[in-house]
Amino acid sequence: MKNIKIAIDGPASSGKSTVAKVVAKDLEIIYLDTGAMYRAATLVSIEIETLDFRKIIEFLQENSIAFAQTQVFLGTRDVTQIIRGNDVTAKVSEISAIPEIRDFMVREQRRIAKGHSIIMDGRDIGTVVLPDADLKIFLIADAAERAARRYKENLERGIPSDLSALKEEIIERDRYDSSRKVSPLKAADDAIVFDTTGKTIPEVVDFIEGKARSLM
Ligand code: DC
Repeated sequence: MKNIKIAIDGPASSGKSTVAKVVAKDLEIIYLDTGAMYRAATLVSIEIETLDFRKIIEFLQENSIAFAQTQVFLGTRDVTQIIRGNDVTAKVSEISAIPEIRDFMVREQRRIAKGHSIIMDGRDIGTVVLPDADLKIFLIADAAERAARRYKENLERGIPSDLSALKEEIIERDRYDSSRKVSPLKAADDAIVFDTTGKTIPEVVDFIEGKARSLM
């Protein structure tokens, strides 16, 4: 079976990580949540109180971001929960717009992808990180449905939230992520754009797996 690289991009709460995790499990390939990496960098910026990319990168070089099943680590510290909290979410677009932080992350992501099959989700996977990916999917969904999904997710994680504030925040984050100068959120020319509004997770998963299996 040939190695396959799958890029899943799209705006916040379009279902990327949920479907990517299922596809990774079903196809028995690695899953990389690149949003979690930018969230970890944001946590560093908040905790060491700096926007200086050198200090953030230096910290990340000494305390690598690592993944184990569903957990995310910064060095030996489990940061799975804290990187999903409101403080990190409010600041992550700002940190992920810093070009030097993006260069650092892209290098890491390509290193992780080398030599095996992988499905990665993010904003710039099909355009920048893996421009030669075998399959590029760009997931979209309307903002109201995405806010409702995030609300449900937050409830399940015990994170307090307000539905209308979530919708505003999602629209604002889309605007920021799409208009930034470096690697803006956009579909690659050769990506398949798939609207998940009103679709179930298995429907989206089946679509992606159908395409992937035909390439493997
Ligand atoms: O997927 P997420 O909501 O966890 O991503 C958090 C933020 O990180 C998002 O606002 C944009 C940024 N991001 C990015 O710029 N590039 C990526 N490849 C992944 C995420």
